[in-house]
Amino acid sequence: MLLDVRQMAKSYVTYRKDPGLKGAVKALFHREKIAVDAVRPVSFQVDRGEFVGLLGPNGAGKTTILKMLTGLITPSSGCGTAFGEYDVSKRPRPYLERIGMVMGQRNQLNPDLPAIDSFRLAQAIYGVPEQEFETRLNQMLGIFQAQDLVHKPVRKLSLGERMQMEMTLSLLHGPELLFLDEPTIGLDFAAARRIRSFLKTINQSLGVTVILTSHYTKDIEELCRRVILINKGVCVYDGLLSEVDERIHGQREVEILCVDEGIAQRVMGSFKNAQAELGNTGAEPVLKLRDKGINSVLFSVTPRMLAASIKNATATVESRDIVDIKISEAELESVFGEIYARSV
Ligand SMILES: Nc1ncnc2c1ncn2[C@@H]1O[C@H](COP(=O)(O)OP(=O)(O)OP(=O)(O)O)[C@@H](O)[C@H]1O
Ligand SMILES: [Mg+2]
Repeated sequence: MLLDVRQMAKSYVTYRKDPGLKGAVKALFHREKIAVDAVRPVSFQVDRGEFVGLLGPNGAGKTTILKMLTGLITPSSGCGTAFGEYDVSKRPRPYLERIGMVMGQRNQLNPDLPAIDSFRLAQAIYGVPEQEFETRLNQMLGIFQAQDLVHKPVRKLSLGERMQMEMTLSLLHGPELLFLDEPTIGLDFAAARRIRSFLKTINQSLGVTVILTSHYTKDIEELCRRVILINKGVCVYDGLLSEVDERIHGQREVEILCVDEGIAQRVMGSFKNAQAELGNTGAEPVLKLRDKGINSVLFSVTPRMLAASIKNATATVESRDIVDIKISEAELESVFGEIYARSV
């Protein structure tokens, strides 16, 4: 086991200040303390080679968890043990040498210098032998096809290019565990895809264990085999993404658009009858208002039942009575939203 997090919690203490000068003066003499429970006790384990998505709405506590795991802040209670021996909050040097961190919203590279200078600085700080440094740098730049970027001042790089350099920097000392806080934030489609394929490579080919936060469905679907969902500082799900998928995501939403309400009623009637015959007690179909009339029938079924249910629903009407049939998959966002809502 690479990471063992036990009952780790964080509450931030802040002070309330009334608005205006009066409030500022008052705060000099009496400050009212407020505790924000950013993370309630969470526990989880991460094994070597995993790619874990730490997900949740804004303010859920994800960044706070990553900061505790990298020792940037100390937990209010609980603890994290890494590589079976290090207390993460103590930031022992051997631990720092085995981890890397990239925060999409924060720059680790010096903006005034070319990236190569920051890379050299990191090499000196971590004491990376020259041969190893060269090999790793070429490997990273090779994956990105970004050999030319290292000599340009960082402030002249595009956001996507800068992120490639940030990723490279975080891996130069050969970490086994990488923490990423929204690495694709603000990137366009192509740049985000490049970052994703890079992350896939370092996880699958180099065996780097990754813990990532992201608000983008693409990142999660393409990269994270396992997801930990956090809502209001509480872990509400920890398991395989595919299992979340199957539980709710496996449903297909069908909308049958009919010429008028009479037909829609008939379609709904046939669908219900066929379902009753099958003894199927799935979700009830509903009529939906569309194009200024109630003429759509909506229902959800599993992919296996898709063809049969459409056939049943339209069995008693003519094909000219049906204007359109739409089939869509429930979005991952709405699936997660449902889990968050249920947890409250
Ligand atoms: N230094 C701080 N002092 C006081 N409260 C803080 C501090 N940092 C974070 N918080 C609060 O802790 C909670 C969790 O914040 P955190 O940044 O961990 O959320 P997050 O899940 O990373 O959100 P996002 O998706 O927006 O990045 C929020 O309510 C936030 O306001
Ligand atoms: Mg955050």
